Amino acid sequence: MQAPIIAIDGPAGAGKTSAARALAERLGFLLLDTGAIYRAVALVAREAGVPWTDEAGLGQIACGLEIAFEPAPTGQRVLVAGRDRTADIRTPEISEGASQVSARPAVRDALLELQRRLGRAARVGLVVEGRDVGSVVFPAATLKVFLTASPEARAERRHQELLGRGLPSDLPATLHEIRKRDERDSTREAAPLRVADRAVVLDTSGMPFATVVAALEALYHKESGSADRG
Ligand code: DC
Repeated sequence: MQAPIIAIDGPAGAGKTSAARALAERLGFLLLDTGAIYRAVALVAREAGVPWTDEAGLGQIACGLEIAFEPAPTGQRVLVAGRDRTADIRTPEISEGASQVSARPAVRDALLELQRRLGRAARVGLVVEGRDVGSVVFPAATLKVFLTASPEARAERRHQELLGRGLPSDLPATLHEIRKRDERDSTREAAPLRVADRAVVLDTSGMPFATVVAALEALYHKESGSADRG
């Protein structure tokens, strides 16, 4: 029997990564952060001197990408070609690069099978988060959620997160970046950010974190209960 899949999509800063992690922990499911994979492509390209606009070069990098996720006390460690690159893929520069490389069809095509393969490793269940995981990567997911929040709420969260990690951050600049990334992620031709069929839209603006996680868990139990009955 296929393990249940919870697919969470939504714009940057909606709280997907932390909510998906907490949900996976509560349910004992494997977590797959697909944004980390696009970030790894941007990082490898930068280090290899391949411009984020070079579709053919990026496609090759994506095809040969060696990425692995390992449990760590603070979430997951991301290993790229065997090296711990967890912090390196989270800088504002690599966020920008990931947004650019993820608009390239050659990159998306190359990463589709990789994401499905990583997902198949889930024995009990999978929580997967990204931009097109419910619409493209796992369209038959048990539960699909579109997690969103106002640009201001998302900018504030990103700002606090960067400050919390001791990185410099400027709130107006963060808001500007978020709007720019939203625009690019939702208007690109390859797998634009959109609400998948059957997806439940959850707006987390002003919602405490614990409430978001509890809402996701309740949605999952409701959905898996109706799947069992049906
Ligand atoms: O969720 P994130 O910020 O780590 O994602 C990094 C970038 O990758 C973001 O610009 C959107 C893109 N992305 C995507 O296009 N498709 C996914 N499934 C996940 C991320």
